[in-house]
Amino acid sequence: MAFFRKKLAIDLGSANTLFYLKGKGVILAEPTVVAINYWEKKAVAVGHKAKGFMGRTPQHIKAFRPLKDGFMADFTSTMVMLAQFYEKIFNHKKRKSKWVLIVPTAITAETKKEIRESARGVGCSKISFLSEAMAAALGAGFDVKANRGRIIINIGGAICELAVIINGTVTFSRVTSFAGDALDDAVIKHLKEEYGVHISENMAEKCKHAIGSALPRARDVFPLIGKDMKTNVPRAIEVAALELQQAIREPLDILKNFLRECLAVISAAHIKDAREDGILLVGGGTLLPGLDTFLTEELGFAMVRDKEPLLTVIKGGGIALERPLKHRKLFMK
Ligand SMILES: Nc1ncnc2c1ncn2[C@@H]1O[C@H](COP(=O)(O)OP(=O)(O)OP(=O)(O)O)[C@@H](O)[C@H]1O
Ligand SMILES: [Mg+2]
Repeated sequence: MAFFRKKLAIDLGSANTLFYLKGKGVILAEPTVVAINYWEKKAVAVGHKAKGFMGRTPQHIKAFRPLKDGFMADFTSTMVMLAQFYEKIFNHKKRKSKWVLIVPTAITAETKKEIRESARGVGCSKISFLSEAMAAALGAGFDVKANRGRIIINIGGAICELAVIINGTVTFSRVTSFAGDALDDAVIKHLKEEYGVHISENMAEKCKHAIGSALPRARDVFPLIGKDMKTNVPRAIEVAALELQQAIREPLDILKNFLRECLAVISAAHIKDAREDGILLVGGGTLLPGLDTFLTEELGFAMVRDKEPLLTVIKGGGIALERPLKHRKLFMK
């Protein structure tokens, strides 16, 4: 019976996918990665397990991220991955459920239609769409219906979005592809140029998490093993925090310039509000040490990072899911 259907909010990010079950909270948080066996033509792993395969699988198994720039670059693989997560949370029992799917603010009507149709195959009986910016604002505890502009910067894996929310509406949203992945790419490029060593995306991300910083950071080093590009054999090197900070400076500068351009075209009234309230930072990318200080110094606004920036968006989805009538006008048309 429809009345007993489980209700889920899903944050399908390009780096991480999170499920929230109504009445329970966040029940799954896994990397948005799928590993396909091209001989058997089937997905052999998703999530954490598939991420472990990245960069080290045999030729016939390819582990990859099916979302690029926040959108479903590989629609079929995305749905295969979602189906496996879905089976996992419901213990392989066939169940229908209602979904609140959190999607990029700029999603097209065509993509929503495509998702709606495919989601049925995964067990979804009814779907509502909530923009990531609105979910972030709800998750941070904002009164989103207030007549006061709130500026939110969401730095994820593939995209960074700057959005303004006022009167229950996203009135401004711009995105750039300079976010967490761009920093990992800069680490890979640096090691290639400086040491002639190739490392995987996973290793670059580990290195960034261990010693990455937007501001100079003392002493730390990160030992890693990459592949010597001349001899093709593994080679151990040590990366210093200071050189890493310099290596990621270029994408951080591009990101900062993008944010500055956005702030320059936002209405004076919203800028005035933001001067008083600060700008909210969410998304895993904002966990980079020193990033809040770097952005404050460069842009001249106080930056307030949410307590759990990897969870803000899904928590917002959860809030909309728990009280759908109260929040019905916030869903996308
Ligand atoms: N401690 C940390 N230091 C630096 N970066 C971090 C840290 N923890 C997570 N990240 C980065 O956060 C990014 C993932 O953030 P998040 O889960 O918010 O992205 P997403 O929502 O899946 O992606 P998108 O919104 O772009 O579709 C990754 O680039 C990851 O490396
Ligand atoms: Mg995200």
